[in-house]
Amino acid sequence: MAAGRGRGKVILLGEHAVVYGARALAGALDRGAEATAVTASRSQLKLPCWQVSAQPKPEGEALERAFAGVLTSLGATQVEVEATPYLPSAAGLGCSAALGVAIIRAVAAHLGTRLSLDTLRELAAQWDGCFHGRASGVDTAAASGEGIGLFSRATGWQTLKTPQALHLAIGHSGSGSSTAEQVARVAEAKAADPAGVDGLFAEIDALVGSASEAAQAGDTAALGEAMNANHALLEALSLSTEGLEALRAACLDEGALGAKVTGAGGGGCLVALAEDAAHATRLSARMARIAEPAFATHVA
Ligand code: MEV
Repeated sequence: MAAGRGRGKVILLGEHAVVYGARALAGALDRGAEATAVTASRSQLKLPCWQVSAQPKPEGEALERAFAGVLTSLGATQVEVEATPYLPSAAGLGCSAALGVAIIRAVAAHLGTRLSLDTLRELAAQWDGCFHGRASGVDTAAASGEGIGLFSRATGWQTLKTPQALHLAIGHSGSGSSTAEQVARVAEAKAADPAGVDGLFAEIDALVGSASEAAQAGDTAALGEAMNANHALLEALSLSTEGLEALRAACLDEGALGAKVTGAGGGGCLVALAEDAAHATRLSARMARIAEPAFATHVA
């Protein structure tokens, strides 16, 4: 049976600004999605854990369109794909990109087609575009990449060498985050005040630059400070919520080096930078007392 995997992602700094060409610092997560593909009398995509199934329909709903796009691009017919996400959806962790990459890899493996990384990312961007509209490509780059990456539209994903793994705790605020909606809200804010929002984006890009240097130097205190400063700028764009602020306060109280909204915001997840693996576990346990799911992880 042919199989494929895609990773989730966590943005440490730079979301939203990255849509407009700024840099983002992100990690590819071990958690993501898996898919298998087998021959069947008619093509179908099944997601049993969400009790969802879809036929490929170029003019259909987002999932039907996305699946049709993969099959057409790869020249696949009569293939049944079963996929399992291991991430919450609408949480800012790149669940749809991880699913897309897993499904594309599974179908390509089923056909015996070797995909270049560029083609995989192109197909994944096409898949993700069915769900998110305007996207920077950071989700699909992480889903098909590894490690900690400095990403921009111009350069793509550049894996950074860090002297040690970054230990993180990620907690869900309890309410969903729609990337399309939040990206549209930021676009409206930018249309209303282009200079102001461009100024925020320039500040975010500068923070990403200093955070990348800090990560490469193993200076987690400076990285945490940059994350906190980035959070303040995201708050200025109204991307935090009461639920996210409650998680953030708990993490800072528990000694997190930095804590911020991750992903599109307006709900979804908070990421906190920990001293080490045991600290990350304590931070995630503290967040789980407020809302679930929460988990400790690391990127390296
Ligand atoms: C979503 O995880 C991150 C955003 O910057 C959108 C994108 O980069 O495509 C909000």
